[in-house]
Formats: sequence, C-alpha cells, structure tokens
Amino acid sequence: MRRREAGRTSATFAVLGDPVSHSLSPVIHNAAFRAAGRRAVYVARRVGPERCGPMLRSLALGGGGGNVTVPHKETVLPFLDRRTGAVTATGACNTFWAKDGVVWGDNTDVEGFRRTWTGVVTGLEGPLKVLLLGAGGAARAVILALLGEPGVSRILLWNRTAERALGLVRHFGDDHLSHAVEYRGTAPDVLVNATSAGLDGVGMALDPEMLAAPPLRVVDLVYGKRPTPLCRYAAGIAVPAVDGRGMLLAQAEASYARWFGEPPPAGAMARALEYEGEVPVTERRP
Ligand SMILES: NC(=O)c1ccc[n+]([C@@H]2O[C@H](COP(=O)([O-])OP(=O)(O)OC[C@H]3O[C@@H](n4cnc5c(N)ncnc54)[C@H](OP(=O)(O)O)[C@@H]3O)[C@@H](O)[C@H]2O)c1
Repeated sequence: MRRREAGRTSATFAVLGDPVSHSLSPVIHNAAFRAAGRRAVYVARRVGPERCGPMLRSLALGGGGGNVTVPHKETVLPFLDRRTGAVTATGACNTFWAKDGVVWGDNTDVEGFRRTWTGVVTGLEGPLKVLLLGAGGAARAVILALLGEPGVSRILLWNRTAERALGLVRHFGDDHLSHAVEYRGTAPDVLVNATSAGLDGVGMALDPEMLAAPPLRVVDLVYGKRPTPLCRYAAGIAVPAVDGRGMLLAQAEASYARWFGEPPPAGAMARALEYEGEVPVTERRP
C-alpha cells in the first residue's frame, strides 16, 4: 500500500491485531524509519479474523508490510505465499512483506525471544527447568527457541485451555517438552509468561504462591507503560525479571531487516523505547 504524500510516495506498514492499542511497534518502527530517512509510515490496525489476511496481502503487495499480533498469528498462514522455516516450525507468523509479487511470512518472535533469553539466564547454571504459560502464537515461538537451547533440560507447558497446550506438545513432538496439567506444586528455574494475562495491567495467568518454590528468573512477554503484574510480583520477592520490551525490540529489529535487507539505524528503536541496548533485568535485592 503506497500513499502519495506531498508528491512523495510513502510505503505503509502496520501491526494487525485485536487488541492493538497497547502496541509500541508504531513508536519504534516510525523512529527507525525517520532515522533511516525512509518514506514509510507504520500504523496500528485493529482488525478481526476475517479482515486480517486480506489486509496483510494488500499491505505487502502495495510495497509495504508489517507485523501480526494477538490473536491472528496462526490464522493468517493461508494468506502467505511463502513461509520461512520459523513459520513452518511454529505454525505462527508475526512478520510479512512481499518480494517480486510473492507474499512472505516469517516469525521473528523466535529470534526476539532467543536474545531475551540469553540476557535473562546469564549467570544461571544449567540444566534449567522452564515453566511456560500459554499456548498461542507467542508460546510457539518460545518453544522453538527453547528447544534450541542446550542449557534447557525440560519445558513444562501449561495453558488455561489444556487441549491447546496438548496440541502444541503434539505439534513439536520433542521429549524435552511436556504438558503440565497443573502448575501448582512445580518448581521451575525460569517462569515464562506467554499468555495475554497482564495486558490489562492487573491480571496474572497463575497464582505464583502455588508454585513449590519461587523461580530464579521471570520472563514476561507482556509489556505496557508500567511494570506488568508478573514483574511487580517478581520485584516483590527479589527475583530478577524482564517484561516484553526487550523481546519486542529484538523482534522489531529482525522484522525491519526482513523488509529492507539491512538492520535499522543503531539505537534508533531502543531510544524510542526509552532505554538503551541490553535487555533490562531488575536487580536482585541485597
Ligand atoms: N514482547 C513481545 O515482543 C511479544 C511478542 C509476542 C507476543 N507478546 C505478548 O504475548 C501475549 C500472547 O500473545 P499470543 O500471540 O500468543 O496471543 P494468542 O495467540 O491470542 O494466545 C493467548 C494466550 O493467552 C492465554 N490467555 C489469555 N488470557 C488469559 C488469562 N486471563 N489467563 C490465562 N491465560 C490467558 C490464552 O489461553 P487460552 O488458550 O486458554 O485462551 C492463550 O494461551 C500477548 O500479550 C502479546 O502481547 C509479546
């Protein structure tokens, strides 16, 4: 989708989802576009399942592209002409563009989570047991990334709707991944929240007091303008935690590279998120 603006052609990029108002993607991508001097604009579009796929194709074939977020990452797959290995392995797409009239989809959440993970587990000795909450598109990316981590010995997958988690365990078919019927009584080294709980600023997917022991690290994929409920809980018990901004940044940099064939200008996206470089890890209290 190209727009004429004061005689200049502008490519349109968008994040497609519902809800989408919380997304910081427009902020960071527009900052990168400005820094690179690109004639492009990035917007947030709240769309239902029936409009998401057609809009994806229209944006891509119009010379733009974008991202897909909750809850459409799995349902847009039939609208792609070509899938990268990460999309095939996860069954989820978060990034799209077109080349030579062919619509491509990738899943840069995998790369984004990998970079977050590396920062989070620094200093922890393996083998690590991970309790992963959620069985949507984000959880698929987390599983693929974790299955490639030699320090992870076991991934316990819990989801509010058990059948969905069982479906993911079957999809990946890896002995390191198993379904947790119940999270109560487990003692994970790392707790990863890949559910949407917390987006409202108050909810949590689990009652952390029901774990047999507190985790050593917490990773919340959710982010917002304030610390998420899970990160607030972690801070309260002095457990290092990160919210989803580090992963957001990493997946956004990877998406930009897919669209333009080069990385975004150094620091442009991080500055737009108001912190520089590394994944922020809250300090352990003395
Ligand atoms: N930081 C990043 O870069 C990044 C990247 C990707 C995703 N995310 C975030 O990750 C979250 C999940 O994204 P997604 O694409 O996987 O979404 P999705 O496909 O819609 O899946 C949502 C998941 O959240 C669960 N859930 C929703 N509300 C819940 C609640 N109140 N209690 C317990 N579980 C609940 C759902 O469980 P059911 O199956 O039972 O419905 C499902 O497992 C979103 O908040 C998204 O913003 C962040």
